[in-house]
Amino acid sequence: MDVSEHRTVIVTGSSQGIGLAIAGYFLDNGWRVAFVSLDLEQIRSRFQAKLDSGEALFFEMDVTDNAKIAECVSVVMERWGRVDALVNNAGIRTGTSIADTTPEEWNRIMSVNLGSTFFFSQAIAPVMKQQSQGRIINMSSFGGQFGPMTSSAAYSASKAGQLALTKVFARELAPYSVTVNAVAPASVRTPEMDKMDPAFIEKMVETIPVGRVGESEEVAELVYYLAAGSTGFITGATFDINGGRLMR
Ligand SMILES: NC(=O)c1ccc[n+]([C@@H]2O[C@H](COP(=O)([O-])OP(=O)(O)OC[C@H]3O[C@@H](n4cnc5c(N)ncnc54)[C@H](O)[C@@H]3O)[C@@H](O)[C@H]2O)c1
Repeated sequence: MDVSEHRTVIVTGSSQGIGLAIAGYFLDNGWRVAFVSLDLEQIRSRFQAKLDSGEALFFEMDVTDNAKIAECVSVVMERWGRVDALVNNAGIRTGTSIADTTPEEWNRIMSVNLGSTFFFSQAIAPVMKQQSQGRIINMSSFGGQFGPMTSSAAYSASKAGQLALTKVFARELAPYSVTVNAVAPASVRTPEMDKMDPAFIEKMVETIPVGRVGESEEVAELVYYLAAGSTGFITGATFDINGGRLMR
């Protein structure tokens, strides 16, 4: 039996889009996967066999609920005994102007995108320290680096905040062989993109040097490499995956 068959990952925001691709990629590579999302029922039939065999667990929950985060980590530890990787992917994006942003929208985006990254990482840190092994990957965004084009100030600030958290956790956890890195995508095809006006997508593609949008599976492969590869010397880093829209 390959050792990877015993490795475990928690992926937040895994009911669709990039998170679903990441969760599927880890499962295909023999990992046990804890899916965390608001709306997992829509993908239950696809993963029923993995749920039945105990290779997958579903946590249908809001990532802003700290009691649920604690419960999720505790159930995963009870069932699988370890957490090798955490992917903080759950996120919501808005395009609201500065003038129209309400305190409610600001607070919700901050707590889903940034708060959950902090509190999930805070909950998993003692587990990974104890194991002297672990990988945390935060799904940030081009929007957190470049400044908003079509995204709201709240979204951009939350995504920039994730880059700061990546460095703070990376420094604190480095002595325990736990690495923390960020992935910053742009223009990746998801169900949300499929709802956009094709003319808008065509215009966007004109700004992408490689001349196409990205695929969720491409992001999944990068995240998998960071979690499963020989990446112990990489920490506090941000990996751009944006077709060349931002070159640093
Ligand atoms: N698609 C892109 O081009 C792109 C670009 C930059 C960054 N990102 C980032 O990648 C991540 C995934 O994006 P996506 O495009 O796949 O988005 P998506 O909207 O398709 O999926 C988001 C996922 O997060 C979950 N989610 C949202 N709020 C939640 C909450 N409160 N509790 C639990 N789960 C919640 C949803 O259920 C869904 O599974 C996000 O953090 C996003 O900011 C995406």
